[in-house]
Amino acid sequence: MAVAAASRHGGTCEIADRISVTLAAELPESWSVVRTDLRDLRAFDAADAVVLGSAVYYSHWMHAAGRALHYVKDAPLLDLWLFSTGPISEADSKAAQVPSADAMVADGLAVDHQVFGGRLDTSLLGWAERAAVRAVHALPGDHRDWDQVDDWARRIAGQLAAVPERQNAPRGSGHRGASGE
Ligand SMILES: Cc1cc2nc3c(=O)[nH]c(=O)nc-3n(C[C@H](O)[C@H](O)[C@H](O)COP(=O)(O)O)c2cc1C
Repeated sequence: MAVAAASRHGGTCEIADRISVTLAAELPESWSVVRTDLRDLRAFDAADAVVLGSAVYYSHWMHAAGRALHYVKDAPLLDLWLFSTGPISEADSKAAQVPSADAMVADGLAVDHQVFGGRLDTSLLGWAERAAVRAVHALPGDHRDWDQVDDWARRIAGQLAAVPERQNAPRGSGHRGASGE
């Protein structure tokens, strides 16, 4: 399986790193977990399950994640989990909902979409971003909840490990839409 994320300032990449490590620890040894970047989408070709995330900027996923999503979403036999990072305050959590990702879950094209708190380190921002976050009174700080990230990764591992025969089965024996478990 492959884990990838689009990130501008590194906070979302660290979440993808953590998910990848937790999955590798939780899944049976027969599973290989590849932490891949989004430069070469062919890395997804061999995967029968993908965890794909993006930082949310101005209510949208980053371009690289959107491109990757477009690449994998029509692979009918691939199980897909999505995550977004963004909310840096309660007021912001609505903006991070990313309706298109939620719609993919509703349509059975992804198993689940999870929203994680983000990190806002103003020392990493350029002047335009600083002005933007000032305008919306965003709260600087690290709002990532590592227990929540680990729980989600463990849930994915549980869902994958619960269907052992699919490791030898043709792609497509997956279980998209199983998020309601
Ligand atoms: C200019 C700017 C715009 C942002 N817009 C949103 C937004 O619309 N919704 C949201 O939930 N978070 C927003 N955020 C918060 C980021 O998504 C959050 O800081 C995220 O963790 C950054 O991830 P990264 O370090 O991987 O780039 C914004 C942050 C900046 C700096």
